[in-house]
Amino acid sequence: MCGIVAYVGSKQATPILLAGLKRLEYRGYDSAGVALLNGDGVRVVKQPGKIRMLERAIDAAPQRATCGIAHTRWATHGAPTEPNAHPHTSPTGDIALVHNGIIENADLLRTMLQAEGYAFASETDTEAVVHLIDFLWKEGPLEDAVAAALREVEGAYGIAVISSRDPGKIVVARHGSPLLIGVGHDGEMLAGSDAAAVIELTRDVVYLDDGDYAVLTADGYRTFHLEGDGEEVERGVHAITWDLDAIEKGGYEHFMLKEIFEQPSSVADVLRGRLLPDNGDARLGGIMNHEFDLGRVRRIVITACGTSWHAGLVGEYMIEELAGIPVSVEYASEFRYRNPVLEEGTLTLAISQSGETADTLAALREAEQRGLKTMGIVNAVGSTIARQTDFGIYLHAGPEIGVASTKAFTSQLVALSLFTLFMARRRDMSAARGAEIVQHLQVLPSQIEEVLRLNDEIRDLAAKLKDASNFLYLGRGYQFPVALEGALKLKEVSYIHAEGYPAAEMKHGPIALIDEEMPVVFLAPRDPIFSKVVSNIEEVKARRGRIIAVVSDDAPELQGKVDYMLKVPQTLPHLLPVLTTIPLQLLAYHIATMRGCDVDQPRNLAKSVTVE
Ligand code: AGP
Repeated sequence: MCGIVAYVGSKQATPILLAGLKRLEYRGYDSAGVALLNGDGVRVVKQPGKIRMLERAIDAAPQRATCGIAHTRWATHGAPTEPNAHPHTSPTGDIALVHNGIIENADLLRTMLQAEGYAFASETDTEAVVHLIDFLWKEGPLEDAVAAALREVEGAYGIAVISSRDPGKIVVARHGSPLLIGVGHDGEMLAGSDAAAVIELTRDVVYLDDGDYAVLTADGYRTFHLEGDGEEVERGVHAITWDLDAIEKGGYEHFMLKEIFEQPSSVADVLRGRLLPDNGDARLGGIMNHEFDLGRVRRIVITACGTSWHAGLVGEYMIEELAGIPVSVEYASEFRYRNPVLEEGTLTLAISQSGETADTLAALREAEQRGLKTMGIVNAVGSTIARQTDFGIYLHAGPEIGVASTKAFTSQLVALSLFTLFMARRRDMSAARGAEIVQHLQVLPSQIEEVLRLNDEIRDLAAKLKDASNFLYLGRGYQFPVALEGALKLKEVSYIHAEGYPAAEMKHGPIALIDEEMPVVFLAPRDPIFSKVVSNIEEVKARRGRIIAVVSDDAPELQGKVDYMLKVPQTLPHLLPVLTTIPLQLLAYHIATMRGCDVDQPRNLAKSVTVE
């Protein structure tokens, strides 16, 4: 998630911009930059790495300016390098722009602008926007050129723009990526991607709506709407009452809860620009130039660790069922030390949120050693695993701060379903079947919103279960990996022992654990093996287990057999894990917080295990 800070007023802009960027560091980033505007024009300083690197570069050649924009970038398109860092500038450098979000038609805009003679210095989608503003700006104020350009743009953006051709002003705009105005009281105006960026100077903010753009000067601000006829629109001023810690967590008590509630938007971001409803297919820029290699794939070996390994298990089931390709899933730490049989035509798929997990990286290198093609499904753009693989899919889920993985897991599942659709439609899957899957993917974000409305009910359930010493999580088919993931979530944040198991396997041993103290969580959505799960539930009920069932309809077959029922919306069997896992995330979170555990930084855990 990138960060934006902008300032125009009577004070020196640089220290204000840098202080604002530091307030946004919690969002995670991998490069930073500023653009300063004074009588000498626009000056841009940008660096990969941390803000202190940027500060050193600025100090090397200080610049006095009372107007400027600044940015911390979390790479989505293009690795974290100096050319890809923001701000981006027009060819003559007299326009500078910073951007949050994803421009879906960036490739089309780039092609058009290149045909008009524009040269691109970066791999980013953002650069197309600043060149488009330059291309369209024949006369009139900066804001008119920005509005004209944004009317050609598709996708999500929050932007801030300055130009030496129209000095003393900043133009900001938002569509799908937050941006607010900080109303200064000392002859100054600010803007930021969230209140943390402006809170040093003001707690009075104006939230822009999607499609809004605004002009900021030292004297004030004016807001407009892209669909308007140039008339100003009224946007009220709000007083921020949160403290900084609450702002960084978006008002949630912990990053883990914030990220659980981000899942409608993070799943929407994985899907953004990647669904082709008309021919029931997926458009995956990171692999579509490798169709020849993918067409020769005879087997896929998925390798990962922890939660990502659980995602791999779901991937195994869906790729085999829908694309007909044999798949095996390997713990990376095991894969690298045994002598796996890896024949010609085997694709090694590494799944990793951080892209830095040592065991997964080592497994990848083992596969490369054998001359195999490698692919990644990674969240951190430009990370080691992302760079190590031949091709791959980025999650675009934004940085995941909480150590326990939540939104990255559901994003991995959605990325795997897009990959499965892509492969299946190049094998035997019909366009009609593909279109059905696309339709179900399109409504996933709103279905996740529905699941999140169970939060209060799950918090009440957590209060009843928080003192248990052991939990059992049971599921079958696509829901077996969800059982494993639910158990891991509880273990790692609440320190309660929990085990995930295939529901039918429970008879071969674990059933000895069942008693009236043992909570048993069943994943029991209505899928092709639901009736078998009902039998397993009856076996536990007969032994007085405390049964919590996650279902996808009213499940009359379970009436009187379970103690608690949590209902999620119905969807296709291979997409149900995206929905059934969320109640388990919330259950683990609430039990852990009730037990006084540090859910964001659980004991003994690291966000990225970069050691073997
Ligand atoms: C998940 O909640 C854990 N924090 C951990 O299992 C994690 O999934 C594992 O370390 C793999 O990390 P990666 O996805 O960054 O490779």
